[in-house]
Amino acid sequence: MTETAPSSRPALWWARPASGAWTCAPAPTEVRAFHASLPEYAPTPLTELPSLADDLGVGRVFVKDESSRLGLPAFKALGASWAVHRALAERAAHGAETGPVTLVAATDGNHGRAVARSARLLGRRAHVFVPQGVHPTAAAAIAAENAEVTRIAGTYDEAVRRAAEAASAPGAILIQDTAWPGYERIPGWIVEGYSTLCAEIDEQLAAAGAGMPDLVAVPVGVGSLAQAVVTHYRAHPSGPATALLSVEPRTADCVLQSLVLGEPVSVTTGETTMAGLNCGTPSGIAWPLLRDGLDAAIAVDDADSARAAGDLAALGVSSGPCGAAPLAGVRAALSGDGADERRTALGLGPASTVVLLSTEGSAANPHGAPG
Ligand SMILES: Cc1ncc(COP(=O)(O)O)c(C=O)c1O
Repeated sequence: MTETAPSSRPALWWARPASGAWTCAPAPTEVRAFHASLPEYAPTPLTELPSLADDLGVGRVFVKDESSRLGLPAFKALGASWAVHRALAERAAHGAETGPVTLVAATDGNHGRAVARSARLLGRRAHVFVPQGVHPTAAAAIAAENAEVTRIAGTYDEAVRRAAEAASAPGAILIQDTAWPGYERIPGWIVEGYSTLCAEIDEQLAAAGAGMPDLVAVPVGVGSLAQAVVTHYRAHPSGPATALLSVEPRTADCVLQSLVLGEPVSVTTGETTMAGLNCGTPSGIAWPLLRDGLDAAIAVDDADSARAAGDLAALGVSSGPCGAAPLAGVRAALSGDGADERRTALGLGPASTVVLLSTEGSAANPHGAPG
């Protein structure tokens, strides 16, 4: 895979009309039942924010508020819990149940904490690799789940490599939320786990009399959550297609750059308060779905996401920098030079319904806490 440095990167916006016509296979239905069986499970709120709809010039805006999911301040436990469940069940089915198991992961914060929590609840060990730029409080929260934490002086991509090496030890299982050739099944289960979030949105929109959304904006790191969102909306086409917008930090826009080039590329990442999105390489299994199923992609600055987090806080929604990125991205798309063309590319009109995925609360990432 080629690597692009920030100074040579083109375009902060990419759009391709008519991706909504493309379809794919749905996530398995048993995921929702598995989550519902967990003691801490409850659907997270889908909060309507009419003042944001006025600001954005659309009909209705809803925010999926993942500030408290399965006892943690981000959505990630949906993927980790299902993947750990599947991986341990498979190990038991192969008669490998003897001896201690260590669940290994690399993380920008939230995924590692979710893996560590699953391990603790199941009486297993966890070893989590944390790259530079993750706030000490976020690393301490992982250690507080009884996980061994190894901080490395490199990027997220390097932390993933270190975790993969560590997982070659006997009894170790890599629970990573990104895929590469030869390591695809477990990241695939993580993506399946995220399907519960989309299923809840369908029910909540229906209860609010809103039907299917016209636009869903997704914060993107390696693109696994976006893969789940594409899978959901492209597997069940009903009526006009929902437009799907990915939002990344300017300093870690690997999916946007890959879409612009038409092939997956790694980018050299820099610093961003959007720690969970600070990833340089798209997940190998996400890429084909993102390429074929996303309608548009945009990159935003830390200041944009900080402002969005502050505005959401003022409206009663706790949102960390990654969680607020979708609002920042939709705002950036619908304002400034070229806003009319971008609005048209997203198919938005004054009656449209927009869903923003606020994937973490402000407690998940102290870096960017408003105020
Ligand atoms: C809060 C938050 N939002 C969004 C994402 C992006 O998810 P993905 O890496 O699957 O694109 C992450 C990833 O860690 C995250 O922590």
